[in-house]
Parts: sequence; structure tokens; C-alpha cells
Amino acid sequence: MSISNQTVQEYLSTIQAASQLDDLEKIRIELLGKNGILTNALKNLKDLANDERKSQGEHLNIIKNELSTTLQRRLEWLKNEELERNLQSQWVDTTLNHRNQPHGKLHPIHQTMDEVLSYFHNLGFESVEGPHIEDDYYNFTALNIPEIHPARQLMDTFYFPEKRDSRDILLRTHTSNVQIRALSQMKPPLRLVATGRVFRSDYDVTHTPTFHQMECIVIEPNTSMAHLKGCLKAFLQHFFSLDDVALRFRPSFFPFTEPSAEVDISCSRKDGKIILGQKDDWLEILGCGMIHPNVLANCGIDPSMHQGFAFGMGIERIAMLKYGISDLRSFYESDLRWLHHYGFQLLEAANLEPTPKSLFEGMQS
Ligand code: DAH
Repeated sequence: MSISNQTVQEYLSTIQAASQLDDLEKIRIELLGKNGILTNALKNLKDLANDERKSQGEHLNIIKNELSTTLQRRLEWLKNEELERNLQSQWVDTTLNHRNQPHGKLHPIHQTMDEVLSYFHNLGFESVEGPHIEDDYYNFTALNIPEIHPARQLMDTFYFPEKRDSRDILLRTHTSNVQIRALSQMKPPLRLVATGRVFRSDYDVTHTPTFHQMECIVIEPNTSMAHLKGCLKAFLQHFFSLDDVALRFRPSFFPFTEPSAEVDISCSRKDGKIILGQKDDWLEILGCGMIHPNVLANCGIDPSMHQGFAFGMGIERIAMLKYGISDLRSFYESDLRWLHHYGFQLLEAANLEPTPKSLFEGMQS
């Protein structure tokens, strides 16, 4: 059966007029589906005589091509149109002005801890952490702090009313608990750094019940006080961006170090202002020493084989000196104007220049 030109023309105009994808699909099935007009006509070709089959075949193929192409074009057109419609209806104006919402800033304590960590990470120190809620073994006993030490008394330490495994529970009074937690699990040689919050029952102009500390621990062959001094000098010069800083080691006592020292940094004081790096006065800045053999032994490290140093520093103290913050309590008052002034933009906070590695060379000798 042949298909008249008129039928073809009618189909072509129906296709062009189709406005729905469904309608187009119906026409496609009518023409080219399993029982479609064209499909059947092509199937019937086999019953025709040779000559007629050839001419009919050519004719039908031309029709088929024309109809398929028109169908395909209309299909694409309708799909495009649908896409356009969706784009129009789902359009989001990303250029809309945002409401002027205030941006958060990084608290100077965070910034300072980041700077400390970044410096020591660059020197191969690994970060370690300890819990805020601690027991007296990690906070005191294993650090060689005897039962009668005044730091244990209620005056300084926040104790919880209950016990855990018959140990007193408390808020850690320093980050030195990290020493015990880390050394009990890790094997020397090691370089560790920790920063974090600590708690003491104290409140006046220079003390707040919570503050932050950093702690460094190094156990490497032949580590000595000289390495400790070199390490501190390099860090403090870098942190305060000073070409040179003088340090004064004053003999002191910490139960967890022997010998122990308190370290002063050179400065001058003018009109109540402290200028670091000048050399006519001193400012106490940290505690340090060689790790006490009892502490090593308490952590399962043989003190006859290993030695190392440790030091601890107040984060607020070095932040105040570096960023010119005069009142310790202002760190905790959550005054947005203060935070806006002293805080750091998240992107600008990357004031974390690379640590000059050469300053630390020779530590391992
Ligand atoms: N934990 C001491 C404190 O809170 C600071 C300190 C002193 C830490 C000597 C140390 C150290 O690691 O060796 O006052």
C-alpha cells in the first residue's frame, strides 16, 4: 500500500503543529511504531513485484526520512521550549544584594593558638590533646605532684563532687595532663604540641577562672637545656616578629621537670606599656625544664634511656603582648565591639608564615 503525498503533507503539518511531547509521540507511533503506517507499508514491500518494490521502496524511504527528520526536529524544539520555560520559572537572581549581615571574626585566642600550632607543626611537632575533665592521676599524680602540693587544694582546682574509679575528678588546671596522656601511648623519639583551655579557681585583674595554655614536649636522643633554650628563642622571635630577643632562665621548681626554669623575655616598660625585644627589663613568660625521670617512668618510658624537655606558656599572655590587649578579662566578656576590633578575618587570619626550619636544625644531633 502506498502513502499518498497528501497524507504525507497532512502528517508533516500535524507534526509541525504539535505542541506537546505526548502528541508527538502518538504521531511517531502511528507512523513508525510496530503497527505504524510506514512500518506496515515497508513490510508489505516484499509482496510486490521486483520493479514496483524498487520504486515503492525508494519512495517510502524518502517519506520515512522526511517524516523522521521532521519528527526529530519538532521533538528537539519542544524539549528546548520546555527547558526555556523551566529556566524562566525556576530562575534565581543570584545578583540580589545580600542583607548586610555582620561577619564573624576569629577570636584572638584562636588566632594565637593557630599561630603556635602552625609554627611547631612546621618543625615536625605532632598535635596532641587531652580532656578538660580530668582525674587527679593525669593532672597531678603522674606529673610527680605530691598529695600535699598547694596546687591540689580547693583554692586552685575545681573538683567535681563525685569520684571516678576512686580518683578525684577535676577540671584540668594546666595542659601538662597532655604529657601523661600522650607519653603513656607513644614511643620516643617525639615532638608534641598541645594547646587548650585550662581552669583555676581564681579571679582578679590578672587571673580568670578559665584561660588557655600551650605545651610542648620533646624527647629525642641527647636533648638538653641548650636545645630547649634554642627552641624557645626561635619560637619567641618568630612569634613576636623580632630579630633578636634575650631570654633569662631563672632556676625554679616544677614537680614534673628537673632542672626547672622560669623564663623571662627581654623588654622595656614605658608609660605602662611593654615593648618586647628592648633590653632594660624582663617579663616572665613561661615555665619549662627537663622532663623529670619520675614522669617518664610513670608513662612507661625508661628514664635511663630517654630524656627530653617540656615547656608551657599562657596563650592569653602572649596574645596580649603581641596584639596590644591590656585587660585579660576582656577576652571573656564577649563584647562584640571588642571582638570586631581585636578579632581576625578568617582569610586574613592566615598570618601563619612558614617557620624558618634552619633555626631548629641540630636538635637531633
Ligand atoms: N604546667 C605549668 C603551669 O601551669 C607550666 C609548665 C611548666 C609546663 C614547666 C611545662 C613545664 O611543661 O615543663 O604553670
